[in-house]
Amino acid sequence: MSVPSPRRRSVLYVPAINERALAKAATLPVDAVILDLEDAVAPEAKAEGRSRARAALESGIFAGKEVVIRVNGFPESGDAPDLLADDLAEIVQAGPQAILFPKIRTPADVERAQSALDHHFADESIRVWLMIETPMAVLRIADIAAMAEAEDTRLACLVMGTNDLVKDMRLPSTPSRLALLHALSASVLAARAYGLDILDGVYGAITDSAGFEAECLQGKGLGFDGKTLIHPGQVEAANRLFSPSEADLAEAMAIIAAFELPENAGKGVITVAGRMTERLHYEIAKRLVLRR
Ligand code: COA
Ligand code: MG
Repeated sequence: MSVPSPRRRSVLYVPAINERALAKAATLPVDAVILDLEDAVAPEAKAEGRSRARAALESGIFAGKEVVIRVNGFPESGDAPDLLADDLAEIVQAGPQAILFPKIRTPADVERAQSALDHHFADESIRVWLMIETPMAVLRIADIAAMAEAEDTRLACLVMGTNDLVKDMRLPSTPSRLALLHALSASVLAARAYGLDILDGVYGAITDSAGFEAECLQGKGLGFDGKTLIHPGQVEAANRLFSPSEADLAEAMAIIAAFELPENAGKGVITVAGRMTERLHYEIAKRLVLRR
């Protein structure tokens, strides 16, 4: 079995320009932080944001958490400022675990992202995460996720950028996310087909905890590994809702115990607590217990 990825239940965006938020994030029980150099940093503050992200990384305050840097997108034309190159030049040697690339559209963009890291001599341990936030990326999601099959791939995780998708698809914003369901499900399917993790988009109403919990449960139900967050008040619920419940754990332990009885050693299917239980349920149970 391949090495399981770290848990990614709660993944908090932190504007790299915001010193208080950087300090606060280090104290929170999040699985990962995304230090944002893109949307959360104004154009005139990019240089300052980069140097704060770098200082925070180098200070070691995030020890024990996965640290991801969201960089700016590829420059749109030859004479546009190359914010991405400046981001990578400053950040890559400071030891992030991953770089999150925004506005991916095609598999060629994934290649471009990986080449950009190689160009900046990024350590081979540095992973690539991708924002899935353009209609084109959703249309081409299978080919994009398939880039994880290359032998030297850095691809590890997809992140839904639901606000940008809502904007570009010209959708109304509704609590059910009905019009987004295709994009969300197609992306989960592609992630699973190629062994990637995938995180749900953010919930903007930071004081609406009931709405947030409902959206976490919807995301978990759709198969996401965790949720991207924008505020400390969302951390506890994301950790709780994306972890197995006590009941899930008890059921998994019962399945494992039953399959490990000597009399069941050669059996493909048994009955546990009145349910037909196959070896695939044993595999699911072991994964759940391993990752609790
Ligand atoms: N990460 C870490 N700490 C955060 C935080 C975040 N995303 N959002 C808020 N905090 C901190 C604040 O700094 C404050 O800390 P303090 O008590 O030490 O001052 C505390 O949590 C309470 O914050 P609050 O006053 O409720 O919120 P705010 O008005 O300071 O900030 C936002 C509200 C929306 C501006 C802020 O939550 C934010 O910037 N979120 C992330 C936005 C982002 O990255 N967007 C791009 C990706 S979608
Ligand atoms: Mg965006």
